[in-house]
Amino acid sequence: MENEQYAAPLYEAVLQYVNDGVVPFHVPGHKQGRGLPELADMVGEQILQMDVNGMKDLDFIGNPQGVIREAQILMAKAFHARRAYFLVNGTTSGVQAMIMAACEPGSEIIVPRNAHKSTFGGIILSGAIPIYVQPQCDRHLGITTGVALSDLETVIKAHPHAQAVLVINPSYYGIATDLKAIVNLAHSYNMAVLVDEAHGAHAYFHPAFPVTAMEAGADMSAASMHKTSGSLTQSSVLLYQSNLIPLERVKKVLDLTYTSSASYLLMTSLDLARRQMTLKGKKLLSETLRLVRWAREEINRIPGLFAFGPNMVGKPGCYAFDETKLGIHVAGLGLIGYQVEEILRHRFNIQVEMSDLHNILAIITIGDRESQLRQLTSALQQLAAEADHQKTPFYFEIPPSPEMIVSPRDAFYSPTKSISLKCAAGEIAAEMLMAYPPGIPVILPGERISADMIEYIRFLKSQGCTLQGTADPQVNCFRVLGSE
Ligand SMILES: Cc1ncc(COP(=O)(O)O)c(C=O)c1O
Repeated sequence: MENEQYAAPLYEAVLQYVNDGVVPFHVPGHKQGRGLPELADMVGEQILQMDVNGMKDLDFIGNPQGVIREAQILMAKAFHARRAYFLVNGTTSGVQAMIMAACEPGSEIIVPRNAHKSTFGGIILSGAIPIYVQPQCDRHLGITTGVALSDLETVIKAHPHAQAVLVINPSYYGIATDLKAIVNLAHSYNMAVLVDEAHGAHAYFHPAFPVTAMEAGADMSAASMHKTSGSLTQSSVLLYQSNLIPLERVKKVLDLTYTSSASYLLMTSLDLARRQMTLKGKKLLSETLRLVRWAREEINRIPGLFAFGPNMVGKPGCYAFDETKLGIHVAGLGLIGYQVEEILRHRFNIQVEMSDLHNILAIITIGDRESQLRQLTSALQQLAAEADHQKTPFYFEIPPSPEMIVSPRDAFYSPTKSISLKCAAGEIAAEMLMAYPPGIPVILPGERISADMIEYIRFLKSQGCTLQGTADPQVNCFRVLGSE
């Protein structure tokens, strides 16, 4: 029997529609590019002809009965999930949907303190009460790793009625926790496990990667196909196999939050990326792993650089490692990560995914080629040859856990005012303050600002950490609850 994964029903239907030369009296208004010739000249006519909208031949995202449904069924099978839903607003919308599906206003959800902002968005939207668990930190690298199972167990025992536990698998830097053990633990308390797999969609297609959410028995996952598996930016999938969260609830949430004009370009790219990954993913990813392993070894021969990888496994908070995340500790060059990012961009025409104070991160995928990795390694060799190798001392602390006074949702809907940071002790935060490193929010909406915290923020600034999330980028002022 032919492998059904050879089919790409949505892509084929869109192609048929284009080839039929249909006269389009429907949106989008650019009408196959004629309404915006400059864009058509740049990207080509065919891509704009494929930018269509819901109709009988092409199905409707709201209640798919045709080719979108068929494509989603193939997607679910590819990810070993019971159901899969196309997302056109990234994993952000998937994380929010998972939390809204699992939680009601007032129900508790256990989340790592270093979660992505989409988790905090989901908490505000659902009205859930977050119970934070601190991740471990690698002080030498200046990054957070994962949550220790024992820490999670302590929090679960203290909050046995929480509805769900959210897990990041793997982190931006490739670090994964013992997901199977977490699922078993959470399920023994009837808590659903929601997994943020923004950086892990490719792991479903090769055995060398950390265990996936669906394999571990998690209830739901949101995975960014666009980040690591070839589809267009913003296209992700929501995966479901829960016995704790009713499917009807998931559908209700999606119905509430979905656009009624989901992009066929994004959805078609999901259909094609799924086909490619199921049919050729193992071979493509084997080549990706060969390249990244070679690059990691080369970089580790360069004085002053440390490309961390599978040798992280066994350190606190790291149970498994995704080798395609090429994190490079650059402190030994006497430069900070942001400087290295800038130099690579402006002198060597190389753009990395991100940098923090002491690291840069290159994401290696099925789209990378040996020549490009050679460009990166030789640029780093050149940089190291010129560097003064004076490592700058750096210290960071895990932020003290603030007291939550009102829920993030209540804080979001309360009147707020801006005050000087130095006068903020005792006030309730109306905004988030995130520090990189270590990538943990110092404060979240609804939490009490303490004098220690203000000291800590000053300390972070003196260390050159990037502070994000506040209306005032310099963080001289801070928004708190109360009227102006
Ligand atoms: C851990 C994590 N979760 C969720 C997201 C959101 O994913 P998306 O950009 O697909 O919305 C990101 C994005 O970088 C992320 O790093």
